[in-house]
Amino acid sequence: MISILIISFGLLLSSSIILSDDYSENLSVNTGETATFICDLPEKYSNKKADFYGPTGRLLVAKTDEDITSGDRTRFILEHTYAWTWSLILSDASDDDAGEYTCRISSSSDHQTLTIIKRFNLTVLTPPKIIDIIIESNNNEILKENEQIILKCLARGMPQPKIIWQLPGKTFQLNERNDGNIIAYENKLLIKNLSRTTPVDYQCIADNGIPPRDTRTKRLFPSISPEMTIQSSIQSSHIILNCTITARPLNSAKWKRNRFEINTIKRKQINNYTVELILLLDINTNIFGMYECEAENQFKVSKAFINIDESILFNRTTTLLPKYHRTSSYAQIELLLNQTSICTYNFYFILLINIILVNYSHGFYNRR
Ligand SMILES: *[C@@H]1O[C@H](CO)[C@@H](O)[C@H](O)[C@H]1NC(C)=O
Ligand SMILES: *[C@@H]1O[C@H](CO)[C@@H](O)[C@H](O)[C@H]1NC(C)=O
Ligand SMILES: *[C@@H]1O[C@H](CO)[C@@H](O)[C@H](O)[C@H]1NC(C)=O
Ligand SMILES: *[C@@H]1O[C@H](CO)[C@@H](O)[C@H](O)[C@H]1NC(C)=O
Ligand SMILES: *[C@@H]1O[C@H](CO)[C@@H](O)[C@H](O)[C@H]1NC(C)=O
Ligand SMILES: *[C@@H]1O[C@H](CO)[C@@H](O)[C@H](O)[C@H]1NC(C)=O
Repeated sequence: MISILIISFGLLLSSSIILSDDYSENLSVNTGETATFICDLPEKYSNKKADFYGPTGRLLVAKTDEDITSGDRTRFILEHTYAWTWSLILSDASDDDAGEYTCRISSSSDHQTLTIIKRFNLTVLTPPKIIDIIIESNNNEILKENEQIILKCLARGMPQPKIIWQLPGKTFQLNERNDGNIIAYENKLLIKNLSRTTPVDYQCIADNGIPPRDTRTKRLFPSISPEMTIQSSIQSSHIILNCTITARPLNSAKWKRNRFEINTIKRKQINNYTVELILLLDINTNIFGMYECEAENQFKVSKAFINIDESILFNRTTTLLPKYHRTSSYAQIELLLNQTSICTYNFYFILLINIILVNYSHGFYNRR
């Protein structure tokens, strides 16, 4: 019963609006500030009371407080400054307040015929806000090396913000061509060839003239399946085994001796893609064995081997010429070592280290 009444009243109301005498004004206000809608009534209506309608058609301010929803009661104030001037003051504007406002009067005594005196188009200026930086060309999360990707910076704000891309030491602006590999256009950034040598950080700056600007940075690391090299060297009484691993991400990296993990390794992060695993072996202890460097990520498990065996000979010669033999899968290196550092600093010995670098998948252990 009540709803029928409301609907019929609504129909009556909407059909009774007379669009006459109206003129419009564009208003803009910064978020959080105050907007004032000034409605001067024409002379013929100067004894009438003005009512204001908001974007949702809602009666914001009426004769009594009862017509205002409680949340808006404090933000909307109606002022009757002169006999013919009515002002609606909106404080603490937010982007929800944007839209069309109207000043109307009831032109008949029954309050059902409304005449629009003035229309206001309220624009609430909002500072830029970056919603996200997305990778447009990528359908899964894995960024492959040497492939093209497109970054897209999504930003909101009124007016629509302009996007500037910033890289360490470089600025890419709209439609500007710069580095042949990285091109900025509109809100996108095209990276033709993402590799381990391309920059890591990509900063999006959104600006629409309403401070503050918003910035956000996206880090891009191409995925790299583990690659490694082993280097061995001798320093005083130690053999240094150096496994250099390049991988992204690197889920695990270890040195093993005879298939058991060694805990006393030194891990050195060289850059975002490379680590060095340093193993220090004391020549005076039993160090013989098969040493294995192992690195793993979701793409691959990579292994490299070095064999330090019984062929290490103590050889008292004064010659310091190292011999180097290599076959396709086997290399024997004779390293000359100054034994003085171990004992008395006046004789040498030759250390024979068999270095075998084979991929685990080739079945190193099986061939033995
Ligand atoms: C208000 O803005 C609209 C769109 O920007 C424009 O077309 C119109 O002419 C403006 N009206 C006034 C009264 O300035
Ligand atoms: C209101 O102003 C905004 C910004 O100037 C404009 O984009 C929009 O078209 C205007 N709306 C109307 C109804 O005039
Ligand atoms: C991508 O860049 C890398 C490193 O700069 C280079 O080795 C590779 O050849 C490039 N690939 C293409 C397709 O341009
Ligand atoms: C480890 O080997 C890499 C090359 O593979 C080399 O650049 C680096 O200096 C070595 N590090 C040490 C501590 O010997
Ligand atoms: C990784 O790259 C970032 C950005 O270039 C740099 O700030 C950071 O120091 C790098 N990390 C390492 C371990 O090199
Ligand atoms: C010393 O080294 C040489 C060559 O490096 C080798 O021919 C010789 O057999 C070695 N001497 C001993 C006693 O092992």
